[in-house]
Amino acid sequence: MCGIVGYVGEERAAPILLEGLQRLEYRGYDSAGIAVLREGQLAVVRRKGRVKGLGAARSLEGEIGVGHTRWATHGAPSERNAHPHVYGGVCIVHNGIIENAAALRAACEARGEVFSSDTDSEVIAHLIAAEKGDLLHATYSACRKLAGSYAVAVLSAAEPDTIVCARRASPLVVGCDERGLYVASDIPAVAAAGRKVYALADGEFAVLRKGSPPRFFDGALKAVGKQEIVYDAAEDIPAKGGFRHYMKKEISEVPEAVSRSLCDLSKGEFSDLCEVLCHTQYLHIVACGTAYHSGLCLQYAAQKFARIPAEAFIASEYRYSDPIVPPGTLAVAVSQSGETADTLAAAALAKERGAKVLAVTNVPCSSLERMSDFVLPTRAGREIAVAATKSFNAQLAALYSLAGALARGRERAAPPLAAAASCVREALAAAEQVRGWIPYFLGARSVFFLGRGADYFAALEGSLKLKEISYLPSEGYPAGELKHGTLALVDGRTPVVAIVTDPALADKTMNAVHEVYARGAAVFLITSVPACLPCAEVTASVLLPKCAPAYSPMLTSLPLQLLAYYVAIARGNDPDKPRNLAKSVTVE
Ligand code: M6R
Repeated sequence: MCGIVGYVGEERAAPILLEGLQRLEYRGYDSAGIAVLREGQLAVVRRKGRVKGLGAARSLEGEIGVGHTRWATHGAPSERNAHPHVYGGVCIVHNGIIENAAALRAACEARGEVFSSDTDSEVIAHLIAAEKGDLLHATYSACRKLAGSYAVAVLSAAEPDTIVCARRASPLVVGCDERGLYVASDIPAVAAAGRKVYALADGEFAVLRKGSPPRFFDGALKAVGKQEIVYDAAEDIPAKGGFRHYMKKEISEVPEAVSRSLCDLSKGEFSDLCEVLCHTQYLHIVACGTAYHSGLCLQYAAQKFARIPAEAFIASEYRYSDPIVPPGTLAVAVSQSGETADTLAAAALAKERGAKVLAVTNVPCSSLERMSDFVLPTRAGREIAVAATKSFNAQLAALYSLAGALARGRERAAPPLAAAASCVREALAAAEQVRGWIPYFLGARSVFFLGRGADYFAALEGSLKLKEISYLPSEGYPAGELKHGTLALVDGRTPVVAIVTDPALADKTMNAVHEVYARGAAVFLITSVPACLPCAEVTASVLLPKCAPAYSPMLTSLPLQLLAYYVAIARGNDPDKPRNLAKSVTVE
């Protein structure tokens, strides 16, 4: 998704901006650009496509500039709509969505101003250019007119040694070292040994002026102090390590991601959280996409083992659902990136209504971590491929650990989690057999994934993975629900993947297998119940090690991730950078 970088200091800005943009590339974008200011002149280079297309910008002279990677929301991906946008000597880069852009634009056009893009963002440059006063005050006044979300970095030909930054509901961090001052939309783009990094809070502004330390201001423009963020400067984009794609590499890292993310919550560092768990009456789990699916798995495990009422919500729905948050609610916000706008907003709403917030995230110092009362880290390591894989399994390890702690707090017991985790490597080896299934999926019209109980959540995740990178239509469905309408879609061109790990439910799910087979579907089985095999109706199967059924998505997700991966590459897609998608979804 969109990324911001900015620099002012002693060095040439262009190479620093381009390096910063490269570090943001993994997030997904469709155009890029930089602007450098020199002797009152703004030089702007923008391109549709990759950052490497900005090569010509490297030679720009000037010690102050901003850069951007754009993921189109308003206006097509094109050079014309790429940032930076310049109007009246003011240059901006913007992440977020300006919801009242149309009305603001109409007012500017009524004054005779001409727009040069179709974006919602350009209006910010127009508004700032129309304000009086210095750049900070002009930006402040302009921001007061904006509805929606923004992280913005602003240059002005009138103040050639200053970048002004502002944020609302979209992250922004500031860095400084002896070479100068930096701004970026996330920590990896500014992280460097010896560099101090500070995060802007919602509604704050920052002024980066050459030769001075950064200054920060609250929503009323009162100067505020800032704590430095402690981060891992060594953490950089990992190499592919001999793998063709990050996605395959990251799937191969699932066993380590799981074992590192198992967590003993009775240990000292979690004592405050444990205290809260003992008094927790309800769980509200908020998340998006894959993280929502791991949230469903927590809902299931917490209810089963701790007998605590738990509900997983899609964060974008929760935030507008006027939720009832009873006293004693713990809101568990699950997010790989810790920057997903909807998850942040849902967690903030739960907090506002009295819940304590527990962040379950893979990125230390992320916005989610900073706004939460407690943190349960997942330790999957940096995930680059847009499709979440190892982070899902790591979330499950952490969330099942949480379910176990909730159960113990109620003098109940959960099945041993370590036993399930120890099967992950064996499951990964078995999962490779799905490679032989590919010919059945290449010409498919659509694909169904079926399961009951925890297998249903795995089915949802398998379906999302397949859609996301193979672009095949698919649905994850509760096995028992198919016959209530959707079975009408099943024919010889709809392969069905059935997931069966709970011996108590195996016969029930196998009934659905019989039903779809009878309608001509080729059936593929992922199971840990040997009694389901052999079955004449099953075209091919993967037999996984047994574990407690509630924990099984930690294993069944592996053949599902690999299936999506192999189908995607067989269809000629780049699984690391699927079309239209971004790694970190920082807009609503
Ligand atoms: O960073 P988050 O976990 O908050 O991201 C949530 C979703 O955007 C993410 O899981 C998305 O669904 C994945 N690309 C799916 O593979």
